[in-house]
Amino acid sequence: MTDSRESLADFVASLPKAELHMHIEGSLEPDMMFALAKRNGVELPFASVEQVRAAYRFSGLQDFLDIYYQGADVLRTEEDFRDLAVAYFDRAAADGVRHAEIFFDPQTHTARGVPFSVAVEGLLAGIAHARQRHGMTSSLIMCFLRHLDEDSASRTLAEAEPWLDRIIGVGLDSSEVGHPPGKFTRVFSRAGQMGLMRVAHAGEEGPPDYVREALDLLQVDRIDHGNRAMEDPLLVARLAREAMTLTVCPLSNLKLRIVEDVARHPIPHMLQQGLRATINSDDPAYFGGYINDNYLAVAPLLGRDRLAQVARNSFLGAFLDEAALDEHLRRLDSFLEATP
Ligand code: HPA
Ligand code: ZN
Repeated sequence: MTDSRESLADFVASLPKAELHMHIEGSLEPDMMFALAKRNGVELPFASVEQVRAAYRFSGLQDFLDIYYQGADVLRTEEDFRDLAVAYFDRAAADGVRHAEIFFDPQTHTARGVPFSVAVEGLLAGIAHARQRHGMTSSLIMCFLRHLDEDSASRTLAEAEPWLDRIIGVGLDSSEVGHPPGKFTRVFSRAGQMGLMRVAHAGEEGPPDYVREALDLLQVDRIDHGNRAMEDPLLVARLAREAMTLTVCPLSNLKLRIVEDVARHPIPHMLQQGLRATINSDDPAYFGGYINDNYLAVAPLLGRDRLAQVARNSFLGAFLDEAALDEHLRRLDSFLEATP
């Protein structure tokens, strides 16, 4: 590989890209957590921003989720959700993100008495800001919490009905092991009938069979993470044949100990086997970096051409109409031609 780290950093910084796996609650930076706690009179179990950062050492997914749900408690008003989204979109725009499909977890908020409408209207205001300020397009994916039951997910889908023209799809997140995708077959089927796109976290900590269930039972349009699919060659061949997008998150994988060393991240093998892998930040405030930090973490393993392929994959895997997709690919090609 001849590309130096500096030239890869410059390349990644201006490479046009889409972000497809980012939980907006996971973009809550410690300083905003403190500001919102103060604004809303919420007591935090931390004395300082430094103490919060020190708590961000995780032994696995559940350990992270416990802290992440606790942090989300400071989000109370429409303005809070808007401020959170604006901060994310400003960061993402600076990283060359041209289109973002962001997750939110309605049940995390409704369970605390914060209405669905408050979360969604605040986030939609953030989306309007991203378009006006940065010319960036974005959409919302509402995730069901898989540690809760399917009835709760169904009630959440029903609650979302007034906003379904402004929500592109449904997802599935939270504690994976012990909560297989098949638990949500009916609610995903209903979401599909309603015209929503479908994605699910699968194969992050859960086995390859969970990835298979997401495909067969939930009929997903993308797999979030998908790392453990690599253990099963037949599944890898199927994912490649079906051009299934994987939304891979290198720094998340490192911080949640899905990989031991980012220098041995499986993404080069994923690409080599023909998988449509993308690079994303997952929960940037918790895992030590936004999208370009994630590109850079694996850049030495990939080099320019495969980084460009990843950016292309991000547009191909996005829920864009044909005209918008063509435009993004055309701009990406112009950037690549103009970048020696
Ligand atoms: N996995 C599962 N649930 C999540 C994650 C994740 O990486 N981030 C936020 N909720
Ligand atoms: Zn995630």
